Parts: sequence; structure tokens; C-alpha cells
Amino acid sequence: MRRRHFEILRPVCPVCRPDSGEPSPLEIGQVLAEESEHIVEGLLRCGRDTCQSEFPIFDGVPVIMPGLRVFVSTQLQQILGRDDLSEALESVIGDCCGPGTPFDSTRQQLSSYAWDHYADLDPDEPAGGPRPGSAVRVLERGLELAGELPDGPLIDLGCSVGRTAFALAERTGRTVLGVDVNFAMLRIAAGVLRRGVARYPRRRIGLVYDRRELAADLPGADRVDFWACDAAALPFADGTFAAAAALNLIDSAHAPAEVLKSMAAALGDGGKGILTCPYDWSSAATPVESWIGGHSQRGPDRGAAEPVLRKLLTAGAHPASIEGLEVLAEQEGVPWRVRMHERSVVEYAAHLVIAGRTE
Ligand SMILES: C[S@@+](CC[C@H](N)C(=O)[O-])C[C@H]1O[C@@H](n2cnc3c(N)ncnc32)[C@H](O)[C@@H]1O
Ligand SMILES: [Zn+2]
Repeated sequence: MRRRHFEILRPVCPVCRPDSGEPSPLEIGQVLAEESEHIVEGLLRCGRDTCQSEFPIFDGVPVIMPGLRVFVSTQLQQILGRDDLSEALESVIGDCCGPGTPFDSTRQQLSSYAWDHYADLDPDEPAGGPRPGSAVRVLERGLELAGELPDGPLIDLGCSVGRTAFALAERTGRTVLGVDVNFAMLRIAAGVLRRGVARYPRRRIGLVYDRRELAADLPGADRVDFWACDAAALPFADGTFAAAAALNLIDSAHAPAEVLKSMAAALGDGGKGILTCPYDWSSAATPVESWIGGHSQRGPDRGAAEPVLRKLLTAGAHPASIEGLEVLAEQEGVPWRVRMHERSVVEYAAHLVIAGRTE
């Protein structure tokens, strides 16, 4: 965690806020390991006497979540996971765990997202690799459509392995925070930040992965930081950010409407949300009742997601509409690619929406 980001963004306690309504600022409680301007291990603490919740910093990534126990216990493998094993021994572990196990699914996810985010830096990538990757292109289109942004810092919600946060800093010159709930992905992002190296397992086929270690000296990296935060319970005072990117996030989130609500609160007047979504719903990520479209085929919207999202982003148009947001612009069919292995790349046609924060 960069001290500079902590000072600029002034995070608040996500535990006592819902009860008291008043945000309580976090303090740096203990610094256990430091590397230049990064606190690598430490503890943040809520300053409210009756709360005093603690939030740990692991490997440079602060975990500022209301459900810390659930996060740590469900992501124990990722938090305690080593990233210093040789490629051969990592491969033995992959063979022993086998397909479909948590180790295997994590490795697949890291392969897919890190390839899209960093393969443009890879001299070994066969011609036709992404330059830049599709998430950065989606972001560039979103920034173009969003136009001018008010002054202030930016947040990349569901930043995964981090490249779009770096791209935001490079293109806007602003302070940028990337947040995600997947610790293994954040560790890759933090590795780029602190070591200038993108290190990830690229899946060839089946259980066969090749270790990639790519020099990633990215412009604007000194204005970026990565924190583990739930986009549905952001630990910031209202109006902290000038813009938020939520690229391919809402159909991966456990509570999509809460993500929109939390994003709206975090945006200042005139702030903009850049949302893209392929509406690839799965009950593993989101309970069916919380999907935006994708069900209720015989209802008024015939199962379509786009009209429901528009209504959620228009005050008074839906019982769950989010106050203070409006749709400013839209584009259909924005290509976004997820590589499964060397013979499979899934291409989505994402829906891009620019939401504006009204006064
Ligand atoms: C489909 S991936 C997209 C990643 C990246 N934005 C991109 O476009 O390449 C969705 C990401 O959202 C993260 N995510 C899911 N629910 C989240 C939440 N409630 N808060 C923050 N991140 C979340 C996942 O861990 C994952 O990294
Ligand atoms: Zn608190």
C-alpha cells in the first residue's frame, strides 16, 4: 500500500459505517515491513472506540472488507500461496491437484486475465497476440465515450491483474486505485507495481502451463495502487472519485445492484462510471435473483439485460433504481476476449454504458 494513496483517498471503516451512517477514518496501526513508499505488511485500524476493526496488509495489498474473516478463510490458499516456486515444482503441484480443483481454477483465471492484460509485453507471444489487450481497448473506448472527467482520483473496480489501472493512470495522469476481491490476481498486479514484472502461468493445454515473466515498466505506475476491496462495499467517503471503471465486473459480482449503488456513492458530482458487461451470468458468481436480466423470459423485458440496467441507472424507473445516476452514452458489441488455452479464445460482445453522477 502506498502511503500517498492512503493519504489522498482517506479510506473509511467498512464495518461500522452501515450501523452508524457516519464514516470513521482508518489509521495506519502498525507497519511491519516497508519497501520504499510501499507498506508491504502492516495493519490498518478503525479509529472509532466502539469498533476498532483491523485490516491487514499482505504482500503490499491492504484488505479493507467488511467480511474480513470470510475473505481470509476463503482465500487462504491465495494469501498463503507461494509465488517463488520453480516452474517445475509448480507444475508438479498442478498435476497432483488435477483439473477442476481450486488450484487449477485459480491458475486458469490467472492465465486468462494476465494474458489479456500483459501479453502485449511478451516477446514470446506468437504474432496475433493482443496489442494492447482487449480490456485496455474496452477501457479506451469507454474513456473516449465518457469525454471530459471532473478533477479527482479514479477507481478501477474489479481490476483483476491490474493493467487497466495502469492504462487509466497513463492516459489521464490521475491517481488511480485498482480494487478486486481475488487475492491471487491482486498479487500479480502488486508484482507489476513493486517489481516491474508481470509473472503468470500461461496455459498451453490441459494441465500444461508455461511460466511467463515479463518486464513491465509501465508509464504512470507511480500513481497506481491496488487494494482488496469489495466493489459493493467501498471503504471511501461519498464523492471521493471523479470516475470509476467497472469493466466486465457486474456479471462476476455477488450483488450487481449493490456494486452500482456503491459506485454511485463513491463518485463526486459530474463523476462518470464506465461500465461494460457481457451479461455472462453464472450462479457460481451471482445468485439468479440478483442477475440483471438473464431470467424472467416471459416478463416485460423478456429476459433482456440492457433495459433493466438502463432502468437501474435512471432515478425512479425501477423499484431498485439508483438515485443520482443517469445514462449518458451507450455502445453495443464491444469486443472483449478471454483466452482459455492456446487453442481457445472466447470473444464476447460487451455492452458499454457511461453512467453520469447527477447532483
Ligand atoms: C470478468 S473479470 C474482469 C476483469 C477486468 N476488469 C477485465 O476486464 O479484464 C471480473 C473481475 O471482478 C472481480 N470481482 C468480482 N466481484 C467483485 C467485487 N464484489 N468487488 C471487486 N471485484 C470483484 C473478479 O475477482 C474479477 O477479477
Ligand atoms: Zn469501524
